[in-house]
Amino acid sequence: MTVLTPAVRDHVLSLPADELPAYVYDLAALREHAAAVRAALPERVELYYAAKANPEPEILAALGRYVDGYEVSSGGELAHVRKAVPGRPLAFGGPGKTPAEIASALELGVERFHVESVHELHVLAELARRADAKAGLLLRVNLAVSDDSLVDSSLAMGGRPTPFGLDPTDADAVVRLLTDGTYPHLELRGVHAHLASGLRAPEQLAVAGSIVTWATGLAARHRVRLAEVNVGGGMTVDYAAPGLRFDWAAYGAGLSRLTAAHPDLTLRIEPGRAMAAYCGWYATEVLDVKHSHGEEFAVVRGGTHHLRTPATKGHDQPCSILPVDTWPHPWPRPAAQQDRVTLTGQLCTPKDLLARGVPAPRLRAGDRVAFALAGAYAWNISHHDFLMHPRPGFHFLARGGPGPHAPTAG
Ligand SMILES: Cc1ncc(COP(=O)(O)O)c(C=O)c1O
Repeated sequence: MTVLTPAVRDHVLSLPADELPAYVYDLAALREHAAAVRAALPERVELYYAAKANPEPEILAALGRYVDGYEVSSGGELAHVRKAVPGRPLAFGGPGKTPAEIASALELGVERFHVESVHELHVLAELARRADAKAGLLLRVNLAVSDDSLVDSSLAMGGRPTPFGLDPTDADAVVRLLTDGTYPHLELRGVHAHLASGLRAPEQLAVAGSIVTWATGLAARHRVRLAEVNVGGGMTVDYAAPGLRFDWAAYGAGLSRLTAAHPDLTLRIEPGRAMAAYCGWYATEVLDVKHSHGEEFAVVRGGTHHLRTPATKGHDQPCSILPVDTWPHPWPRPAAQQDRVTLTGQLCTPKDLLARGVPAPRLRAGDRVAFALAGAYAWNISHHDFLMHPRPGFHFLARGGPGPHAPTAG
C-alpha cells in the first residue's frame, strides 16, 4: 500500500466511473520534490531533466524553475520540448540520430549535442559546416568502471558492450579531430556518460567519481580544457518500498566534494525517473473479482497497455485501494474472499499483471485503485492501441498537499 496525496485521493474518488482509468498528476507534489532535489545539489552542479521519463508539457513546465535544462533523445522529443518550454537549454542525446534530426537540432539552436559515435561526429561536423553553425558537444563515452558500482543497477547501459556512446579506446582519436582544426564548426565542451539506471546514492557517487577522473585524464593528455562533465541520470526509484527515496542529500554532499576537487569543472546530472515517478498515479476501478484455482483476481478497467511499467520491469506496481461503498447495479457485487488479490488489466494476455498478491481482504467490484509511482516511464512507454480499449483521462492538479514527508534510503 502507498500513501496518496490528499489532492489525488479526493480527485480519484470524485471522478465518475466512466472517466476511469485516468492518470492523475500532483504538480504541487512534483514542484516540492524538485525544489528539494535542487536544494540538495551544490551550485556548480547543473540539473537537466531527462524528458523521456515523462514529456507531458505540464510536467516539463512545472519543473521549469528547478532545472537548468532538458535532455532530449530524438528529433520528436526535441521539437516537443522546445515548444513546451521555449528558450530553455537542451542537450540532444540518443544513439542513431538521423541527419535530418541533427540538421533540425542545429536549426533549433540546440546548445549541446551528446555525440555517440565517430560516424555521428562526421555527420554533425558536415551539417554544422553547411549551416555555418557552431555546434557545442560532449562526447558520450561507454566507460568501464573499475569497482562494483553497476552490479546492483536495474538497467546497465555502459561499462559493458552496448550500442551507447563511444568506446573509450576511440576517445583519443576523436579528441585529436576536435582539436587539430579538422572540424572548426565543432566545439568540444566535455564528456557525458550515462552508465546505468537504478543506482543508489553511494554507487552513483562512485560512478560520478570514475567519470570525472577519466575525463580529466583525457583533458590532461590532450592539453585541452573540458569544462563540463555530465554524469547522467539513473537515480533509483524503489518500487518495492515506495516510501523510500533516493538520498539526494548524501548525493549532493558527495558531488560537492567532487566539484571542490575540480574547481574549473561544471558537473551536470540528467535524472528522469527519480524526478517524475512520485507525482503520478494511474487510477482505475475494479470491474470484477473472481476465483481461479485457489487464487483471487481483480480485473480493473485499463491495464498494462496504459501502465506498462510493471510488465517491463517485472515488479508489482505499488497501489492504494480506495473503497467505494455505493453499488448502483441490480446484480450482485463481486467481492474478494481471501486476504490477497492479484490485480490484472483487461487485456487478453496473462502478462497483463499490474500487481500480484496485494493485501486487499474485502476488495469489491466498484472499489477504486490508485497505482503509485506512475509519473515516469508509464503512459509514454505503453502499447496504447493493443485491443483498442479507450485511452485514459489525464488530470494535472496544480494545487493540493504534497503528502507526508518521505524517509530516505541508500
Ligand atoms: C542518456 C540518458 N540520460 C538520462 C536518462 C534518464 O535515466 P533515469 O530516468 O533512470 O534517471 C536515460 C535513461 O535511459 C538516458 O538514456
